[in-house]
Amino acid sequence: MIRLKGPQRQVFLSPHRFRLLVAGRRFGKTYLANVELFRAASGPGRNAWYVAPTYRQAKRIAWNPLKQLTRPYWASKPQETDLRIELKGGGTIALRGADRYDSLRGEGLDFVVLDEYASMAPAAWTEVLRPALADRQGKALFIGTPHGFNHFYDLREAAQEQSDWATFRFTTEEGGNVSAEELRSALRELDERVYRQEFRASFENLTSGRVYYAFDRTDIQPLEYDPRFALCWSLDFNIDPACSVLCQVVHGHVQVLDEIALRDSSTYDVCKQFASRTREWVESFNHGALPVHVYGDATGDSRKSSASRTDWQIVRDFFAGNGREYKATFRIPSRNPEVKDRINCVNAIISNAGGQRRLAVSPKCKQLIRDLEQVSWKTDANGSSIGDLDRSDRLRTHLSDALGYLIVWDFPMRAKIGYRPEWLGM
Ligand SMILES: Nc1ncnc2c1ncn2[C@@H]1O[C@H](COP(=O)(O)OP(=O)(O)OP(=O)(O)O)[C@@H](O)[C@H]1O
Ligand SMILES: [Mg+2]
Repeated sequence: MIRLKGPQRQVFLSPHRFRLLVAGRRFGKTYLANVELFRAASGPGRNAWYVAPTYRQAKRIAWNPLKQLTRPYWASKPQETDLRIELKGGGTIALRGADRYDSLRGEGLDFVVLDEYASMAPAAWTEVLRPALADRQGKALFIGTPHGFNHFYDLREAAQEQSDWATFRFTTEEGGNVSAEELRSALRELDERVYRQEFRASFENLTSGRVYYAFDRTDIQPLEYDPRFALCWSLDFNIDPACSVLCQVVHGHVQVLDEIALRDSSTYDVCKQFASRTREWVESFNHGALPVHVYGDATGDSRKSSASRTDWQIVRDFFAGNGREYKATFRIPSRNPEVKDRINCVNAIISNAGGQRRLAVSPKCKQLIRDLEQVSWKTDANGSSIGDLDRSDRLRTHLSDALGYLIVWDFPMRAKIGYRPEWLGM
C-alpha cells in the first residue's frame, strides 16, 4: 500500500505546475518521485519521465522501486532495455539520464521529475525538458539535496519569486525514514558542514575559505609516544618538500607526534630521517621489532624517484633491510580518494557534527600546523570556488595531505546513510 509521510504529502498535494523540493539524504525523495510518476501517468496517452543525472543512476536508483510500486498496473512486462513501463490505463513511465540529454528530444511530456537535480547538467532542463512540457502544459518536480551554491540553489532562489512555483525544504529527520541511531552515527562520522548539507538540507559553502576550518590552537598539545599503540607513518611523495607525519591512533583519536619535511631530498633521505626520529622509540621498545603502519599516496607506486625504483619500493626496501628494528604493514590504496572526500574525513576528525574533537598535534609539527591553519580553497578570477586546493605556496598542503591519507584509511566515510563520496559521481 502506498502511504506518503506528512512532508511528502505536502509536496504531493501542492497544485503548482512547478515544484522544487530540497531535502536531506534518505528523506524519501525518490520514493515520492515514484509515487508522483505513477499518478502523472494514470490516464490514456499520458507520458511521465523520471530523470537522474545519468542513465545508469536512473536505473540504479529508481528502476526497481518503480517496478515494485506499479506492478499490479502493468499492461505488459517493463522494457528493461529502454527502462519504460506501460500501464494498463494507457499511460507510460520512462527513466532517463541527463548525461545524454540531446538524445531526449522529440517526446511530449505530461510530467517530469528531476531527481538529484543538484548533480545534474542544468541544460537538460532548459534545452530539452522544459520545451518538452510545452504542448501538454506538463508539470515538473525538482528534487535534490543541496550541493553547494550551484544551479539548484539558483533555481530555488528564482522559484521563490514566481507564482506558478512552490518550494519546499525538509530535513532528513522530518522525512521520518531514518532512525535516531542512524542519525547519531552520521553526526559522529561527518563534519558539521557536511552534516548540515546532507541531513539538514542546508546550502553550505564547502569549498571556500580555509580548508581545515575547524582546526584551532586548542588542538595543539604536547604528546608522548605510547608504546602500547602502533606507530603510524604517513607519506606524501612530493619532491620539494618531501613530507610525512608520525602519528598514533589512540582509542579513535589521531595524535600527530612529529613531522618530517625535507627540502630537495630523495625518498632515501626521507627513510633515513624516519630512522633517526624513531631511534629512541625503537631502542626503548621491549617487545621485538616496533610495529609501524605505513600510509600514503597511491601515486608513489608509479613515480620513479630514482633510476629504477619507485618511491614505495624504496620504502619497502628500507623496512625489509631493517626488519630487526621495525615490523611494517602497508596501508596504501590502489588509487587515491578524491581530494574533497579526504578533506571531509580530516574535518570530521578535527571536529565532528556532534562537536567531538579527535585530532591532537604536537607543537613540534610547525609545518603541519601552518597547513591546518592556512591551506585554503582555490578561487577563479571572479573569486568563485573551483573545488580544488590552492597550491600556489609550494610549502603548503603536503603535510596535511600526508595526514589525510592516514585519516581517510582509518576513518573512512562509509556512505552507509547519506554521505555521497565524489566517486559515486553524485
Ligand atoms: N512513504 C514511505 N513509506 C514507506 N517507506 C518509505 C516512504 N518514503 C520513503 N521510504 C523508504 O525510505 C527509504 C529512503 O527513501 P528514498 O530512497 O526515497 O530516499 P531519498 O531521499 O531518495 O534518499 P537518497 O538521499 O539516498 O537519494 C527507502 O527505503 C524508501 O523505501
Ligand atoms: Mg534518492
